[in-house]
Amino acid sequence: MHPNRKITFDVYITIGGRYVLYLRAGGSFEGEKLEHFISKRADIFYVREEERDAYKSYIKERVEDSGLTAAERAVILKESSFSLIEELFENPKVDEALEESKSVISNFVTFIDSEPSAVASLIGLSSHDFYTYNHSLDAAVYSLGLAKVVGINSKEDLLDMGRGALFHDIGKRKVPVEIICKKGGLDENEWALMKKHPLYGLQLLIEFPDVSDAIKACVFEHHENHVGNGYPQGLKGEDIHVMARIVALTDTYDALTTKRSYNDPMSPQDALTMMKEKLSGRFHPDLLNSMYSVLFKLKK
Ligand SMILES: [Fe+2]
Ligand SMILES: [Fe+2]
Repeated sequence: MHPNRKITFDVYITIGGRYVLYLRAGGSFEGEKLEHFISKRADIFYVREEERDAYKSYIKERVEDSGLTAAERAVILKESSFSLIEELFENPKVDEALEESKSVISNFVTFIDSEPSAVASLIGLSSHDFYTYNHSLDAAVYSLGLAKVVGINSKEDLLDMGRGALFHDIGKRKVPVEIICKKGGLDENEWALMKKHPLYGLQLLIEFPDVSDAIKACVFEHHENHVGNGYPQGLKGEDIHVMARIVALTDTYDALTTKRSYNDPMSPQDALTMMKEKLSGRFHPDLLNSMYSVLFKLKK
């Protein structure tokens, strides 16, 4: 939502557990209205299902709105995607989630293409907690940044990259939630099940012929290691799809730099150092070097 832009759908908030119409289509969050909204701590608002498309086009227009700064557009994009992503992971219909992800990721690609500081603005908004939704979206943002640095530039490829990263852990839907959320180490059997999530993910996607091989590779190959000791196939080096190599790296990077129940987040620099030293062999060295330029704009 932006204070100087008219909204095109009704906005509801909840008061005492009831939905209350807060602002009608055609209004804007200017002046008092905005202050009131903020003072109510109404940081969550609701839009009627019938107006979902109007809401989505509003977001799309704001992302392309050259009258807004990159930082403002980044916030609108990130905040609005969160609810869509949440739905995407809750929705039992994988085909709908796949379809929905096209418009979400396409907004990110448009933004990144239109604005040199876009990736930096988005990275600045990376979540500090590790939840599946945050993690998937953050992995998508880092992956898009890294893909561009290594010369993956076409809109179509970037769309695959973003969606592949977004869905990389989709197979975890089939792993029992007690295992996913278990604190501390997994026993041998639990670990064996956990390691099946790339295969489960591939099985979920295989029935949709319009899902590209690149997206499937991100899902199936994101735990392969550069030196060949990853899973499930033990692929090596460039036999691993380039986009899966990118996800492998951004997945680990995000896990190291966000707070999870059992660890404190590392700084970007420490995380990269660890990936270079202790985890060397897992990532393609050129790609790891390129990650420095995504994060710190350093040249290789
Ligand atoms: Fe994974
Ligand atoms: Fe992951």
